[in-house]
Amino acid sequence: MEITYYGHATFMVDIAGKKLLFDPFISPNPLAKSVDLRTIKADYILLSHAHQDHVADVEMLAKQTGAQLISNFEIITYYQNKGLSNGWPMNHGGNKAFDFGSVKMVNAIHTSSFADGTYGGNPAGFVIQGAGQTFYYAGDTALTLDMKLIGEEFDVDFAFLPIGDNFTMGLKDALKAAEFVDTNTIIGMHYDTFPPIEVNAEDANAQAAAANKSLTLLSIGETISL
Ligand code: NI
Ligand code: MN
Repeated sequence: MEITYYGHATFMVDIAGKKLLFDPFISPNPLAKSVDLRTIKADYILLSHAHQDHVADVEMLAKQTGAQLISNFEIITYYQNKGLSNGWPMNHGGNKAFDFGSVKMVNAIHTSSFADGTYGGNPAGFVIQGAGQTFYYAGDTALTLDMKLIGEEFDVDFAFLPIGDNFTMGLKDALKAAEFVDTNTIIGMHYDTFPPIEVNAEDANAQAAAANKSLTLLSIGETISL
């Protein structure tokens, strides 16, 4: 799988040529000003919850790419009402096969409302399987024992975990989350975008190493293969 970071919690994961874009928040993010939205292609856009720092560029990118939206029922309905009819609604505990593999919507502890106040359903994470690999995209969440169920059910190769603290779990809890889902490979997200979630990368890497975990903090625009 090829992973490209677009800042905050926004990632593109390419699974054997199918492009999955997670939580697009690019144009309002000054740290991501080098990213040209017009060059982004996607087959699917997955949304963990309705907060603006996860959905800001959904409408523009869904129209540009024709990508199918995958999210909870409330979020899919919200965008259908805005004319984006290519949506696939799910809810927690549901597993669904797509042409790239499968998506299971899993629990997250957080909140979820749109910027205009519309109810955004309950926040979620995703476990994605495809091309012989499995990864966990946690979304915005606290550490929760529910993550142990993911480790029991799946052989997780790597996990996208929030590390910025304040609005989500911080690194200490993210390292425990990696234990719960049973992976040693963490891609950090939801840090540095706003002053309350700034992270010292050197400290973070040292803490992860002390816990025998590999923590990858990508540069915005960087692509890696996992
Ligand atoms: Ni949020
Ligand atoms: Mn957020």
